Amino acid sequence: MLTEINRSVNFRLCGTNGDLGYHFVMNAHTLAALRMLSSGALCSGETIADQLGVTRATVSNALKDAEALGLDIEKVRGSGYRLLHPPVWLDAKSIANRVSTQLGRKLPVTILDAVDSTNTYMLNRAGEGAQSGSVVIAELQTGGKGRRGRRWFTGLGGAITLSLLWRFEQSVAELSGLSLAVGLAVASALRGTGAMDVGVKWPNDIVVGDRKLGGILIELQGDALGPTAAVIGIGINVKLADALRNQIDQPVVDLATIQSSVDRNDIAAAMLIQLARTLEHFSKEGFAVIEPDYRKFHVLHDVDVTVHLPDGEKVFGRVQGTASDGALLLKVGREIVRFHGGEVSVRRGAGAARA
Ligand code: BTN
Repeated sequence: MLTEINRSVNFRLCGTNGDLGYHFVMNAHTLAALRMLSSGALCSGETIADQLGVTRATVSNALKDAEALGLDIEKVRGSGYRLLHPPVWLDAKSIANRVSTQLGRKLPVTILDAVDSTNTYMLNRAGEGAQSGSVVIAELQTGGKGRRGRRWFTGLGGAITLSLLWRFEQSVAELSGLSLAVGLAVASALRGTGAMDVGVKWPNDIVVGDRKLGGILIELQGDALGPTAAVIGIGINVKLADALRNQIDQPVVDLATIQSSVDRNDIAAAMLIQLARTLEHFSKEGFAVIEPDYRKFHVLHDVDVTVHLPDGEKVFGRVQGTASDGALLLKVGREIVRFHGGEVSVRRGAGAARA
């Protein structure tokens, strides 16, 4: 069942991250209390309790949950609470206005306090007939989905977890290359907001050097002959809590490390504007016309790599680019081999060969 929580509803949400042991708990009043601490100034428990119409014990519990979700709260005895690094909370109007000013068309933006997965939420909305261009972003995702059945972990207010619905006339088979086009749009938007070192690692990991900054999960619904509804899910690390970072089993980076100031509303708007432009272009022309730009952002272009195939086989070679259908082109000996799947890692100091 979909767990969707609206601001006004009293809830307690728990989810255990089985793989990493990270435990998500959020009290119904946590976000409301945190919003009262947004300025970074000290605020008494009594003031927060009065404003929310709850007891001081409830406020104390609500803020404990926020700490467990990665936010640093200072408690000053006798004076109250202070949020040490207040996030910029998401604001649907601000994002939607920026997008419509730039694009000349409106994208309906919904912000949720918490949801299991924005992709699951949007897949359900797509099934109910939601319009193309609909967007959902969550402050907290409790059951985020990654590629290959993995899970995607983020803390409260420390990420952008966004899903965009895009409807295509084409069939699923005609949309190969979509995930690369989306990766390019996201990386290019992030560069536009000042994160100049961001690149893409085939097919669509968003990276800075060899560290992962974000990921993309596209889920498709459609008939063999089209049309297709694509739910494009994007997760970007904005400020990873140490507890979370320490448990992720691959090198990761967040925007707070590479940029001096990060406003999630700016970043979400920039990504949506670039995505809409790229998707319009892609739906008319396909990936082939986008490939030269993708190549410029591709951190593995002309690099010696190992492709780890799902059956355990490893193939060594040098990346030559990507085909018009998004396949990775690898020079293996004298041959050019195409890959549609598999994990790619950089291989240092080795010639091209098949294992
Ligand atoms: C990956 O494994 O690299 C893809 C991660 C995709 C995560 C995003 S966060 C927003 C959207 N909702 C989800 O449940 N997953 C995607």
